Amino acid sequence: MKRKKTMAALLTAGLILSVNGAYAKGPEAGVPNTNAASAFDNKIIKKISADNMYNHIAYLSEVPRQAGTPGELRGVQYIESHFKQYGYETEVQPFPIYTVVRNNVSGLLEIGGENLKPYVFSGSYSGEVTAELVDVGKALAGTVPDSVKGKIALIERGDITFVQKVQNVFDKGAVGVVMYNNTGTSNAFGQATYGQNIPAVAITRAQGLALVEKLKNGTLTAHIKVTGSGVEEKTSYNVIAKMKPNKNKDTGQVVMIGAHHDSVQNGPGANDDASGVSAVLELARVMADAPTDTELRFVTFGSEELGLLGSYHYAGTLSADEADRIVAHFQMDMIGSKDAGGDNKANGLIMYTIDGKKNLVTDLASAAGDRTALGEVVPYGQLGRSDHQPFHELGIPAALFIHSPLEPWYHTPADTLDKIDKNKLQETAEIVGASVYQIARPDTPALQHSRVAPQPVDYDFENRPPGA
Ligand code: BES
Ligand code: ZN
Repeated sequence: MKRKKTMAALLTAGLILSVNGAYAKGPEAGVPNTNAASAFDNKIIKKISADNMYNHIAYLSEVPRQAGTPGELRGVQYIESHFKQYGYETEVQPFPIYTVVRNNVSGLLEIGGENLKPYVFSGSYSGEVTAELVDVGKALAGTVPDSVKGKIALIERGDITFVQKVQNVFDKGAVGVVMYNNTGTSNAFGQATYGQNIPAVAITRAQGLALVEKLKNGTLTAHIKVTGSGVEEKTSYNVIAKMKPNKNKDTGQVVMIGAHHDSVQNGPGANDDASGVSAVLELARVMADAPTDTELRFVTFGSEELGLLGSYHYAGTLSADEADRIVAHFQMDMIGSKDAGGDNKANGLIMYTIDGKKNLVTDLASAAGDRTALGEVVPYGQLGRSDHQPFHELGIPAALFIHSPLEPWYHTPADTLDKIDKNKLQETAEIVGASVYQIARPDTPALQHSRVAPQPVDYDFENRPPGA
């Protein structure tokens, strides 16, 4: 069942005043149609402190927070302890990540006393084996002979992935892999993965075809030795804080506010994305005592920089019913750089959606921009590259809040605290806070009749590439 809070659904609920610009109900007669911050905005907004956010960034950016390292764990513990301090129920959700090790890697492949100077597969297990060589063709599923058990498989590249080929012979009990190219003169290719605990090396097509010929006339013994290579399993984490709504006023719906806490290797990641984390923490603090009819879920994801691994892991743990209860995901990633945004309007702030379409999140936030510190509507554009992606794929309205174009320090060791602009932090946190509270406050159905109802705004699509 797809029942996301669409504009139409919210209209029915009295949350939003217009669909496609057609106003359901205007402000009451005699009340000026302004988008000034309302009393309920103020309740949340006035409490947001850029100094608090800055202090979080200061702590988090002292040490790089690369996924799977002690730096990530240090950040995770800091984040969880703050959520707890604000009174939230928290969960630290571990998940495995796999990293390829290549440390002074060396490979030996001896056949008939000659070293064929092989290339070591990325992620090959380090080990030494001596065994008979068996030609298994392309090692396609279902074609690998049982006779490869205890032997070294000679495989031709092509048709299926390297990892699949290694797995197919590994499953049959092979103790090593020698793969030859299907074209050209290079031997530099190949990849194995965690759990494939046999050495795997690559040779050229000419070398491979010569071996195939020799095997037609007799047996060959091969000796493989690989050192300095492997795949390590590490643990990364998501940190989750939940605030349940008032028991007697529970819509059953959930709003998510997210950022990623991991950084790139050697990157202090002050803006990417300690800035987003700082806003998640500060919004959690100011919302902790707010009455709501909607569950608020504050999440910081690990391993975003490795390919959105934390957010995909989190999304994968949701049942269909749980996913269906989530009505919005606000992702803040890089929201505080002095040097981002150029001369663009809204101080360079933009909301990126995966499909380049407006949604509940962008509608609420653009209007919130107009009535909070920024004082301008926020444009939207189309981009992935952050943790809003898995939520979009679940059919949840989601957007990435970011300043674009990016700062020159993006993914460098110079992404440091001194490049952080408190105004940008304040503006973005206010926008997200006001939008979230507009959904979550218990009297939103009455909003339509309120003297202070925020008005819908027109906001534009911008084809603005983020750069870098
Ligand atoms: N904070 C960036 C997201 C970003 C970068 C958005 C540039 C817009 C422009 C994020 O942490 C990141 O670097 N993402 C990776 C992609 C990810 C799937 C590994 C990127 O963009 O290279
Ligand atoms: Zn980021």
